[in-house]
Amino acid sequence: MTRVSYGPLSTSYAADLEKLHTSLFHRPLSQKAFESYLSTVGYKKSLSFGAFLDDNLIAFLVANSIQGECEILTLGVLKENQNQGVALELFKLLLGSPDVKTIFLEVNVNNRAAISLYKKIGFQKVSIRQKYYKTDTGILENAFIFKYS
Ligand SMILES: CC(C)(COP(=O)(O)OP(=O)(O)OC[C@H]1O[C@@H](n2cnc3c(N)ncnc32)[C@H](O)[C@@H]1OP(=O)(O)O)[C@@H](O)C(=O)NCCC(=O)NCCS
Repeated sequence: MTRVSYGPLSTSYAADLEKLHTSLFHRPLSQKAFESYLSTVGYKKSLSFGAFLDDNLIAFLVANSIQGECEILTLGVLKENQNQGVALELFKLLLGSPDVKTIFLEVNVNNRAAISLYKKIGFQKVSIRQKYYKTDTGILENAFIFKYS
């Protein structure tokens, strides 16, 4: 993975993000949603990073921060580039930011890969949100809320 580079994401990546997100999630986020997430408005600062292979976006960590409290909005790695340490590298960039004191995120209780990743980084489970996600077959699944500080 020597050709993978990492850097901040701006609104100019919104269309690429929509495409990549659509390949990973059954409820995709639109280009417009990404344009909003990647905008810094008032106290809300976008803190978003991407991974690039030969200039193509292969992964994203989209988050925002308000006065040091950070929320992860979405995270994903292109299927063929998973399990190569890309998500960990994106988290290193986020954790290295002076705008991050605490981080919150939500994750489907059945998402074993993501839960394992968050625990490895040092996130701790703080609560459970009942029937929060709707699967493509209409089943409602719970979410864990994780916190890092
Ligand atoms: C979750 C996801 C972002 C992980 O990205 P990744 O780049 O493959 O993760 P990394 O290679 O950096 O893995 C780091 C750690 O995460 C955990 N992990 C990653 N993939 C895993 C898997 N398939 N099964 C179990 N643990 C896994 C492991 O602890 C791993 O450390 P290890 O390699 O020492 O075992 C990726 O699987 C993905 O995009 N999934 C689909 C979208 C998604 O679920 N996003 C999160 C929504 S909350």
